[in-house]
Amino acid sequence: MENETDTNKEDIQERPVIFKSEQVIRTNYDYLFKVSLVGDSGTGKTSVLLRLTDNNFTENTSSTIGVDFKIVSVKYKEKLAKVQIWDTCGSERFKSLTTSFIKTCGVFIMLFDLTDRKTFESISYWLTLVLDNTSPKLLCLVGNKSDLIKDESERVIANSEIYAFAEKYGMHYMETSAKNNDNIEEMFKYVAEGLFKEAMKNVKKRDSERYDTGYKSIMTNPDEHNSKDINLNYKKKSGCCKD
Ligand code: GTP
Repeated sequence: MENETDTNKEDIQERPVIFKSEQVIRTNYDYLFKVSLVGDSGTGKTSVLLRLTDNNFTENTSSTIGVDFKIVSVKYKEKLAKVQIWDTCGSERFKSLTTSFIKTCGVFIMLFDLTDRKTFESISYWLTLVLDNTSPKLLCLVGNKSDLIKDESERVIANSEIYAFAEKYGMHYMETSAKNNDNIEEMFKYVAEGLFKEAMKNVKKRDSERYDTGYKSIMTNPDEHNSKDINLNYKKKSGCCKD
């Protein structure tokens, strides 16, 4: 019985823990990660971010001007990360600004609106923009506004089509509702876990290299461990999203 409890505790501790708003731990973190939300205007990028960081939802949002960001801290296996989550503007008006920003980022949460087929079709556009401007380490595809799908027959995009697309481009797929707070934390934990695992793997590799050369391995500079250091080996598949 004791063993079973210990195992359960261990399982719980295996998941990342997110600290938000006033709980954010701003100093002494081991890693700095930068995550970006992209997708058409109106898909709910700002709403997903505000639900995650402030547990807020409003029906009347205004369109994001340029880019904006929020910070959370995440603990995983005794390591702490500061995570910058960037909210880009889906509007064509800000395309050049969004493109410049994409160049600086390696981890993308790509949003579409489950009730609007056009926004799903636009994911090809966003994916092309990302792949043409950076080498992404992690891509997560998110169908938002799941609260509006009351019945499976109301779906305007077949699940099989979404999963086939996600599989083709090596993206993990999840459905969320910023309105009902469904799957928002779960989706973010998935992304954070992927980042931690890869960062830890890279540090271990560096540790053994340093051991070989007699260097002491202490992580003192979190900026050294930003998302650019993380190599999830995301491979651009040939012919991706090009007409
Ligand atoms: P841009 O800043 O223009 O790129 O838009 P955005 O992607 O940030 O969308 P935003 O968060 O501003 O949301 C657009 C609209 O969708 C708002 O009216 C939100 O209230 C609504 N919305 C966002 N998420 C959800 C959701 O999960 N369910 C429902 N029903 N509405 C949502």
